[in-house]
Amino acid sequence: QWIYLDGSFVTKEEAKVSVYDHGFLYGDGIFEGIRIYGGNIFKCKEHLDRLYDSAKSIMLNIPLSFQEMQDALVETIRRNELRDGYIRLVVSRGPGDLGLDPRRSPKASVIIIVEQLSIYPEEAYINGLKTVSVSSRRNIPDAVNPKIKSLNYLNNILVKIQSNLAGVGEAIMLNSQGYVAEGSSDNIFIVKRGVVFTPPCYIGALEGITRAAIIEICERKGYTLKEEPFTLHDVYVADEVFFTGTAAEVIAVREVDGRTIGEGKAGPITTNLLQEFRSIVT
Ligand code: PDD
Repeated sequence: QWIYLDGSFVTKEEAKVSVYDHGFLYGDGIFEGIRIYGGNIFKCKEHLDRLYDSAKSIMLNIPLSFQEMQDALVETIRRNELRDGYIRLVVSRGPGDLGLDPRRSPKASVIIIVEQLSIYPEEAYINGLKTVSVSSRRNIPDAVNPKIKSLNYLNNILVKIQSNLAGVGEAIMLNSQGYVAEGSSDNIFIVKRGVVFTPPCYIGALEGITRAAIIEICERKGYTLKEEPFTLHDVYVADEVFFTGTAAEVIAVREVDGRTIGEGKAGPITTNLLQEFRSIVT
């Protein structure tokens, strides 16, 4: 396995960063999770646009141009001879001193790791996941910070711990006002009487690339799609609930906080959207 590290290709054992790297010391940096399907990088431009937007927002200077970054991704995949897998692209603030000040980290570090991926068994896409809502909140301010795909995943880790304790695979995070925001690493959708709903991102959700692909598919398939705030009550009484994300794709939810959703398995619209999604990626 070859890992891209600041312009060189190194082995997994050699791929080490400084203990002074502010990505390590403070979670100061940004990242992307990207899929490779059949040798193609899925939505490469969209992921890189989001990466460069996150960088601009936190005043992080990425030392590669957009084209150079794309070439680095392609070269990393080529070296690893991967046709299907997952890319983790990390840009950290880079090595600095022990203080917070980003001006002391003059050069950002760029890391690209590619790996095989299987997150949920195929059975989960048919039967759906059990999930719970959690007390952790998405990063505030709701309308700003969740849009930055930063390395600061403390709240998401706390959610993961809560969902581990509850024995479930994903959980529902609320925003600071109690509206449903997203999962720990996925966007959320519900279906009620044939209408598909997802929270607008200003509620406190990442502008997910899978989310955008699903919205596009809904438009193409003639499903009514509404970006509207909703609450846990709306989730409990929904006919279908599903999460979307690069790693998870489109995964149904069969139970939320002990309430069975619909028939207690992937509903017809969720199943249809998953099939459509898989047909565009392969
Ligand atoms: N997830 N919300 C959060 C908090 C996320 O971390 C992610 C990405 C998503 C879904 O976004 P997208 O569809 O662009 O992947 C939503 C991980 C890192 C992943 O699935 O790779």
